[in-house]
Amino acid sequence: MIILETPRLLLRHLVPGDLEALYALYRDPDIRRYFPDGTRTLDETREELNWFLNGHRRQPELGLWATIERSSDAFLGRCGLLPWEIDGRLEVELAFLITKARWREGFASEAARAIVEHARTVLRLQRLICLITPGNAASVGVAEKVGMSFEREQEDEFGLCHIYALALVTPES
Ligand SMILES: CC(C)(COP(=O)(O)OP(=O)(O)OC[C@H]1O[C@@H](n2cnc3c(N)ncnc32)[C@H](O)[C@@H]1OP(=O)(O)O)[C@@H](O)C(=O)NCCC(=O)NCCS
Repeated sequence: MIILETPRLLLRHLVPGDLEALYALYRDPDIRRYFPDGTRTLDETREELNWFLNGHRRQPELGLWATIERSSDAFLGRCGLLPWEIDGRLEVELAFLITKARWREGFASEAARAIVEHARTVLRLQRLICLITPGNAASVGVAEKVGMSFEREQEDEFGLCHIYALALVTPES
């Protein structure tokens, strides 16, 4: 199922055939550098992929979506929205991951901007956050490009994390 399209990208549900392409990204230590759990094995990647086949299992309107270059049909990465409970508050995280060979071409910001609009107008969310490991300048760049700003630092069992946040003004119904 297609979630949304941008001039260069198509975001759709992950499918079992994405496994190899997703694993090629998840096994790369550069791409996974700022993830507290590091690289993923093929089995771990399959488990995650299965979790998101029809959107997030508990909240199907959210999830990680295959991010495809429209002109080439190439699997560039996965971006999306993830639900968390942080300090007793339900939050939705804007997540993005793009293949290393295509960094700095504006794909993450293009996907992120479209996802923010989708969250605001279709899902009618009031707030989005990014959870960023300190030092991940690329993630900060994307978060700031969609209008997020630093809110606070938090420490949990995964270590230190910077929370960037954006308040969304939903359209009148
Ligand atoms: C974070 C990530 C998705 C950014 O993808 P991208 O498509 O290269 O991002 P963009 O091209 O849209 O860059 C947006 C802005 O971020 C900043 N930025 C991007 N890469 C950067 C880098 N390596 N160093 C510093 N700033 C960077 C820049 O401000 C950039 O805008 P500019 O190119 O106009 O200057 C990509 O680096 C990635 O997949 N990293 C590994 C996975 C990851 O850490 N995901 C986030 C977990 S919270």
